[in-house]
Amino acid sequence: MKVTVFGVGYVGLVQGAVLAEVGHKVVCVDVDQAKVDKLNQGGIPIYEPGLEPLVKQNVEAGRLSFTTDAKTGVEHGEVIFIAVGTPPDEDGSADLKYVLTVASTVAEHLNGHKIVVTKSTVPVGTADKVRATLGDKLSSLGKSPTFDVVSNPEFLKEGAAVNDCMRPDRIILGTDSALAQKKLRQLYAPFNRNHDKVIVMDVRSAELTKYAANCMLATKISFMNEMACLAEKFGADIENVRKGIGSDPRIGYQFIYPGCGYGGSCFPKDVQALVRSARAVGHDASILEAVEAVNYKQKEKLFGYIHQHFNGDLAGKTVAIWGLSFKPNTDDMREASSRVLMEQLWAAGARVQAYDPEAMEETQRIYGHRADLSLMGTKESALSGADMLVICTEWQVFRAPDFDLIKERLSNPVIFDGRNLFDPGQLAEQGFQYYAIGRGL
Ligand code: UGA
Repeated sequence: MKVTVFGVGYVGLVQGAVLAEVGHKVVCVDVDQAKVDKLNQGGIPIYEPGLEPLVKQNVEAGRLSFTTDAKTGVEHGEVIFIAVGTPPDEDGSADLKYVLTVASTVAEHLNGHKIVVTKSTVPVGTADKVRATLGDKLSSLGKSPTFDVVSNPEFLKEGAAVNDCMRPDRIILGTDSALAQKKLRQLYAPFNRNHDKVIVMDVRSAELTKYAANCMLATKISFMNEMACLAEKFGADIENVRKGIGSDPRIGYQFIYPGCGYGGSCFPKDVQALVRSARAVGHDASILEAVEAVNYKQKEKLFGYIHQHFNGDLAGKTVAIWGLSFKPNTDDMREASSRVLMEQLWAAGARVQAYDPEAMEETQRIYGHRADLSLMGTKESALSGADMLVICTEWQVFRAPDFDLIKERLSNPVIFDGRNLFDPGQLAEQGFQYYAIGRGL
């Protein structure tokens, strides 16, 4: 099938590449010429495991191309995905200007029946706005409307995006059109082989499903972080509690890891957006407000331990940080806990010496060159001359370090672990002071 994708961010690019991989002919449209040129040469603007070869081989095979020309894009696809950004505006609501601009552009160049699919995470009611924008623009141009609007939210995780897209848990189709349903079932048939993963529903339920999923996951994390705070107060170990409750299949082991807070481009933004949308319809989403408040405090947790350990005397201290990205396997620094920590450390007069396997370029881009930030080539070199080690992200390479070397290089044998990677007993035996989240401090 011929498919067009507007927006080559994480969602659009992965979606486009994966659809091309199974044989669809995909044109991706983006306003950023430099990005489009890079992609047409098989390079990718983000770090995402497995994506670069996928893009390269499909560009070479002629199934995937990138353009800034919206007309070419609209005319090409019978299915048109809108996967542009929905950044939060000042009050935390999702800003729909890019989504609605694409809708208007589609109307302008419409050359036959199109199925317009919203893939970005958009507030409930957006598909109706897309439909109205298309309709208004078409009638102002004197064209007759011939399109369907479908909500088909994306559930991919950064760092596992290609796999999530190739093997989705579910394919949500929010539509009242039999034709749109039939076409999208055809489009997704290669990903829907073992059992039927397609769940068809009305448009608004599909839109809310996406928020409900992310907010439920964020709630699990904040809940566990709250329990971790209680574990500290009561002298219990949250890691035992985690295993204890995870064994109940109604709770499950997944996504109940306490830590130094959730980040990324999705959870913080989506929780806030749903709180705002709820308020707009006269409902106080008090659980979600608490989820956000707990996470805000959680991101300050590591600094709290450090401050307490050094009796507030952090001026001139050097802090080795392992892991900067908001989670492993990505270079994404959006809403990363490491940023809150570094900014608090700098404000207290400390220096940061950091290592991350992928996110150092991005960190440099965000903070520029500053005397109190050194980005180091290896995790070992980040330790040299430092007064403490802090772990913000659980990259695999940090899980079994050489503790003797850490001890040798640090001026104080103290580790602050925001991801609970190590065994407190073992670290105590090796002579470390070890602070972790919710482990009976
Ligand atoms: C999230 C969802 O998991 C995806 O299903 C969804 O499609 C995506 O948002 C989106 O809306 O686009 P992502 O933001 O890539 O995906 O990252 P996650 O793997 O969900 O991690 C989010 C944050 O939660 C990270 O900071 C991670 O460290 C934290 N986390 C996760 C915990 O603190 N504890 C856990 O047990 C799990």
